[in-house]
Amino acid sequence: MAKIIDGKKISAEIKEELKVKVKEYKEKGIDITLAVIQVGNDPASSVYVNNKKKACEFIGIRSLAYELDENISEKELLDIIEELNNREDVNGILVQLPLPEHINEDKVIEAISPLKDVDGFHPMSVGALSIGKKGFVSCTPAGIIELLKRSDIDIAGKECVVIGRSNIVGKPMAMLLLRENGTVTVAHSRTKDLMEVAKRADILVVAIGKPKFINADYVKEGAVVIDVGIHRNENNKLCGDVDYDSVVDKVSAITPVPGGVGPMTIAMLMSNCVSSVGLVKE
Ligand code: GUN
Repeated sequence: MAKIIDGKKISAEIKEELKVKVKEYKEKGIDITLAVIQVGNDPASSVYVNNKKKACEFIGIRSLAYELDENISEKELLDIIEELNNREDVNGILVQLPLPEHINEDKVIEAISPLKDVDGFHPMSVGALSIGKKGFVSCTPAGIIELLKRSDIDIAGKECVVIGRSNIVGKPMAMLLLRENGTVTVAHSRTKDLMEVAKRADILVVAIGKPKFINADYVKEGAVVIDVGIHRNENNKLCGDVDYDSVVDKVSAITPVPGGVGPMTIAMLMSNCVSSVGLVKE
């Protein structure tokens, strides 16, 4: 029987732990503030941003909401970020992506001070991760490491295959698994014989962006399968990149969709906000 890795439960535990830490900080007179910037009103982004604000409220982190007009200029946005970089009372800055086409996303990400980059998207944060230095780590891959650790799944020495090479998930995921002493392969859309590569994995992380793409033929008996995808199927039901019903009897552990990786992203964002305390003044 496969172990179902309960991301909802684990993320709730993490949020409870963070709530205690935030309370301790408050008792010492330290408040934590996250600035959340949304440009335009894309409905999916609004849902994510609202969930982030709610998580802040639950944990005791102050959130400053910037709901900016879709037509705001790149310069105006960069000026707001600069102001937030300079504010001592702001610990973290998050700009919800995607941004409207007239704004250069890379420029915006690079404008955020690495000391306040709670998304872990700044090239300095990514560079720090790749050479084993301290820095903020992208929330989804950081959440996956927490899921594995809190489910007592060892990474050291394991064959880890990551399918997907995005800057936000695939690449930092590979770096983190390597940091945990896994033997890591990154596969992607141009990988020859993806099935054979995926089948090597003791730990298979799937972030391919295609609904139910990975079936039992891609999975080794007893593997641990982590599904990063989230899609709506033809019946409007949520599903992942993995065909759950096809693989569940073959694996030793698996994350469901919903309720697996998804809830961990916000928990790790909150964790990054809490660990941002003290960075600005150092
Ligand atoms: N858009 C989709 N996911 C994310 C995320 O984790 N952070 C930000 N800033 N934008 C996103």
